Amino acid sequence: MDDLSVSVRRATSSDAAAVANLASQLAQSFPFSRTRFDASYANLVNTDQARLLLAVDGDAVLGYLIGMDHLTFYANGPVAVVEEILVQPEFRGRGIGRILMSAFERWAVSRNCRLVTLATRRAAPFYVALGYEESAVYLRKVLREPAAQ
Ligand SMILES: CC(C)(COP(=O)(O)OP(=O)(O)OC[C@H]1O[C@@H](n2cnc3c(N)ncnc32)[C@H](O)[C@@H]1OP(=O)(O)O)[C@@H](O)C(=O)NCCC(=O)NCCS
Repeated sequence: MDDLSVSVRRATSSDAAAVANLASQLAQSFPFSRTRFDASYANLVNTDQARLLLAVDGDAVLGYLIGMDHLTFYANGPVAVVEEILVQPEFRGRGIGRILMSAFERWAVSRNCRLVTLATRRAAPFYVALGYEESAVYLRKVLREPAAQ
């Protein structure tokens, strides 16, 4: 991969600033909040039910992926969901997204998941290139915050 030496590792608490920088680029529907990011980050790096994966070249964090699993009846057990993936713009198109997704899929298999699912607006061709197929329509309803009710 060009001059890069990319590997994937699990994020730790000391990666928070680098991941915040990336996550703030992905936020669209909701304004990015560093305070709320920090609260979620602490939970995400400490739970076995989720994986926060980083694509790194040495100390440089080039991309991240968050995914988790949950139990289902329809798939006879756990299903893994990719919630967010982002590669730094200048490093896109060099296989880093694929490496992150492959690492997540390996984790999903290790958790006995038979399926990886995700929703996307802009990146369907990326997932199709990785063997994903369209299977459902994504609907959503934005909920009011408790304090505003
Ligand atoms: C989507 C994203 C993570 C892909 O990461 P990436 O590192 O550029 O992807 P890769 O280089 O690993 O590409 C893997 C494959 O997908 C294909 N691909 C990637 N982006 C594509 C696109 N926009 N259109 C068509 N194919 C695409 C590549 O051609 C490659 O296929 P190949 O191996 O057969 O040549 C990256 O573009 C990104 O961060 N986008 C902004 C954030 C975003 O949209 N995230 C998804 C939210 S659902």
